[in-house]
Amino acid sequence: MSIDSRGIHGIWLSRWTFIMAATGSAVGLGNLWKFPYVVGNNGGGAFVLIYFLCMLLVGVPVMMAEVVLGREGRNSPINSMSYVVKNSECCQAWQLIGWIGVLAGLLILSFYAVIAGWGLHYILEVFSGSTVGVDGESAALLFGDLTSDPAKLIVWQTIFLGMCLTVVSGGVKKGLGAAVEILMPLLFIMLIVMLIYAILEGNFIAACRFLFEFDIASLSWRAILEAMGLAFFTLSIGMGAIMAYGAYMPAGVSIGRTVLIISVFDSLVAIVAGLIIFSIVFSTSGIEPTAGPGLMFISLPVAFGSMPAGQVIGIIFFVLVVIAAWSSAISLLEPATAWLVEATGFTRFMASFLLIGFVWFLGLGSVFSFNLGRDFTLAGFTIFDGLDFMTSNILLPIGGLAISLFVGFVMNKDALLKQMVDLEGYLLTLKTPSSCKTLSLRVGWDWVLRYVAPTAIAAIFIMGIYDNMSY
Ligand code: PHE
Repeated sequence: MSIDSRGIHGIWLSRWTFIMAATGSAVGLGNLWKFPYVVGNNGGGAFVLIYFLCMLLVGVPVMMAEVVLGREGRNSPINSMSYVVKNSECCQAWQLIGWIGVLAGLLILSFYAVIAGWGLHYILEVFSGSTVGVDGESAALLFGDLTSDPAKLIVWQTIFLGMCLTVVSGGVKKGLGAAVEILMPLLFIMLIVMLIYAILEGNFIAACRFLFEFDIASLSWRAILEAMGLAFFTLSIGMGAIMAYGAYMPAGVSIGRTVLIISVFDSLVAIVAGLIIFSIVFSTSGIEPTAGPGLMFISLPVAFGSMPAGQVIGIIFFVLVVIAAWSSAISLLEPATAWLVEATGFTRFMASFLLIGFVWFLGLGSVFSFNLGRDFTLAGFTIFDGLDFMTSNILLPIGGLAISLFVGFVMNKDALLKQMVDLEGYLLTLKTPSSCKTLSLRVGWDWVLRYVAPTAIAAIFIMGIYDNMSY
């Protein structure tokens, strides 16, 4: 049986579709909503620097490893891991990587859909004109009106999950592939429009200063753990989304180069989004960059409300947010859907419908965290905060650690070499000393995967959790 015919879900049309899909997964609320406010809360530049170090030293190698596992397994993360583990003749417990990933995806989607729902609501809010000329207080009231009303939140969460169902039930080519090929170019165009607007009308210099000037003293272990969690979250790694997408990647395409392109896109969008948001926030006096999760929904409407063409730009901005969230959310749903189809033979529609129902129900916990259940906390976390912290800062890094150790030390070497066209090249170039430069680059990846990434994840993780407990 050839490798490709093992998968039942199909293959992306081309390498480019894979790049669009994985970038679509990576670029999302993590870049547009979370990155700016987490940077704001952690004092700016120093945090950004650590975030980039985590992306480079941990994120990129782990993402490559995930694609390797997916393309070798050619199935949902659960079944890909079970195939690769069997083939590697090692302890069965490694299969947990697939299970934890699928679970983490559904947990993330449950709160992600609620925030994406806020984005949908704000398209209408800005469109209706209710944000024109608002001051900070009334913008906070508008936001409060939304979050304190569970019915509104549930309606928007349901609409957003319905949008995800439409795409995922269409399958790899006609659903996911077709969607990202339309959505991603649109997203980039809108981002460029926003950037030009921010440079012309916003306080661009102040935004650059905030994002790039750094004071190393403002960093704590907790902040470093957050930076690592954010890097995992924005790259969509550690939980199987990229593994699932990797399973549909055409054979023979270089994983290293492709992953590099995706991570450059992802970092660029985070930085550009940060520049846009802070330029706009700093253009109106009296708005704080440390506004927390409300930064995008309180500070930005105030700024849009008083800027030239603010209403149109505001609508473009929130449409951009929803598109980014949509193209990520489908990748949170895909691993579980692919698995349910494989395990039960259900149609894609049936599988994704059932899973959406489950996620919708879980999401009620996040919905109520902003109103009826606001006071229901565990270790200081509401359900929403707890899910966010547990997935980004615990499940994804643990998933990433396991993936790097597995691919670095345990995975069957023949299978690894078959997937890593780059490493194959390394074995060949070993005999030709004239190509020393490529040699050192290629040796880098598995070395980083074996030693640097796991050490960094474990150290940050232990120190960060310890620091968190002592708060
Ligand atoms: N990367 C997405 C974002 O930045 C979130 C995500 C995490 C998507 C994990 C898939 C998997 O918003």
